[in-house]
Amino acid sequence: MKSINIALDGPAAAGKSTIAKRVAAKLSMIYVDTGAMYRAITYKYLRVNQPKNIQHLIDDTTLELTYDEEQGQLIILDGENVTPFLRENDVTQHVSYVASQEPVRTFAVNKQKELAAKKGIVMDGRDIGTVVLPDAELKIYMIASVEERAKRRQLDNEERGIDSNLEQLKEEISKRDTFDMNREISPLRKAEDAITLDTTGKSIDEVTTEILSYVSKLN
Ligand code: DC
Repeated sequence: MKSINIALDGPAAAGKSTIAKRVAAKLSMIYVDTGAMYRAITYKYLRVNQPKNIQHLIDDTTLELTYDEEQGQLIILDGENVTPFLRENDVTQHVSYVASQEPVRTFAVNKQKELAAKKGIVMDGRDIGTVVLPDAELKIYMIASVEERAKRRQLDNEERGIDSNLEQLKEEISKRDTFDMNREISPLRKAEDAITLDTTGKSIDEVTTEILSYVSKLN
């Protein structure tokens, strides 16, 4: 499906990236994880000792996406592969704030639009259907209960050898959702023409099949 773009939005830990990767592989499309771009900028923000001027930080930043057959999308920040650090706790805790800043959004959104210009992209994030790709041929707004999202995140963490507390995860996810939904610039919200897909209680295969069925109905 080289001729379409798919926008996949939704709150934190709704399973967007897992599903987007599957859908992209099935359709020979390229998956773009936009959250990782905001995480990479946050990683730099934390490393340069919390600069006051985010515009300066952005002016001094290069960010590239490359693809590795085994590892998938890699984020190259100022020439360094920072992908392994993007899920670290301090990055997760600060990313909503950094992503709410205007210079950061302009920088990331422009890159995302460039990446999708030639079509054939499955892109996940918070504002893809509303701001980045308002003309995407298919828009999905993926939701799931906080309980289920926290459980999935706990399992993810377990697989990475990280112990986590379910109540804490619920709190962290809810806090991030509230911030992402209430920020001034391009808040998380469903595009009017997006299809809402509640993944609570559904398997990865079920959700993937559902999205593929929407794709097959496109003209
Ligand atoms: O999808 P994620 O958890 O990796 O996203 C991390 C944060 O980045 C999320 O809390 C909000 C922000 N984000 C955003 O503002 N816009 C996007 N398109 C993607 C992510």
